[in-house]
Amino acid sequence: MKRSEIEAAVTTGLAAAQAVSGGKNADYIPFLASVPSDLVGLAVVTTDGTTFKAGDADYPFAIESISKVFTLALVMEAIGAAAVREKLGADPTGLPFNSVVALELHQGKPLSPLVNAGAIATASLVPGTDAESGWAAILHTQSRFAGRPITLSAEVNASEQATNFHNRAIGWLLYSAGTCYGDPVRAVDIYTRQCSTLVSAVDLATMGATLAAGGINPRTRERVIAADHVPPILAEMMMEGFYTASGDWAYTVGLPGKSGVGGGILAVVPGEMAIAAFAPPLDAAGNSVRGQVAVAHVAHALGRNLFAPRAATALPA
Ligand code: DON
Repeated sequence: MKRSEIEAAVTTGLAAAQAVSGGKNADYIPFLASVPSDLVGLAVVTTDGTTFKAGDADYPFAIESISKVFTLALVMEAIGAAAVREKLGADPTGLPFNSVVALELHQGKPLSPLVNAGAIATASLVPGTDAESGWAAILHTQSRFAGRPITLSAEVNASEQATNFHNRAIGWLLYSAGTCYGDPVRAVDIYTRQCSTLVSAVDLATMGATLAAGGINPRTRERVIAADHVPPILAEMMMEGFYTASGDWAYTVGLPGKSGVGGGILAVVPGEMAIAAFAPPLDAAGNSVRGQVAVAHVAHALGRNLFAPRAATALPA
């Protein structure tokens, strides 16, 4: 793929996103409501480590639910893909990201590590003897994926911890069902902290490019996770990365992705690149309105959809 094609796709993708309006910043966490709504950033990082960016691509924002992907990766390294599937699941819930109904319907099994219940159960499986060692492992993992030290925003964390009553209830529901694999208070605490780190669209694209490159960070050249763990992680993203809109995303874009209520959107083109965007206003499913437009534009412009045959091989008549 030519450099100029990616550059053009990123430039026109930013303009396409800026041309749409609608949505609303998440306001259930006070910090998120305070982020300027007009910011839009877009970045592509390829598996050879080249970065393309436009707009507010270096603006630091709260990673929120996109963190679920990287804590999943950490836990998969620790317990293996089969145990992740058995304990956390790999299916869409068809319900909102913080649904307790989904848990009740499935005897306390979260179905996916990418919804809150599954992410809290995932946090309960993070190696470490106490909350601080578990948290250090999560932060180290995010940093290795990003290729630079990722840090907690004390302001976002304070805002999240002061309002995370629903997630604490989910922690105890998991615990009572036997699907929280450690202290639920510790699990919810580190889950809340993992959502409160700051990343830019360039960071997110680098994190995704590490998945696209089979687990090797294309900028630092460090192996972050085993290559065998990339396909199940991308499968989880395809199934539940956009919550109740995951099917729509698969239908229209066809790339594994993940959203966060901070306004981040990440999509991975296996073997080639990751595309990431940031724009705070969200739609009803909790996904960035402009971020989805920006990422979808780049994917379409570059002709990247996992379900589209790249080179049709003629069959004998
Ligand atoms: O658990 C929460 O409420 C947040 N800290 C993260 C949620 C989130 O990003 C959901 N996604 N779109």
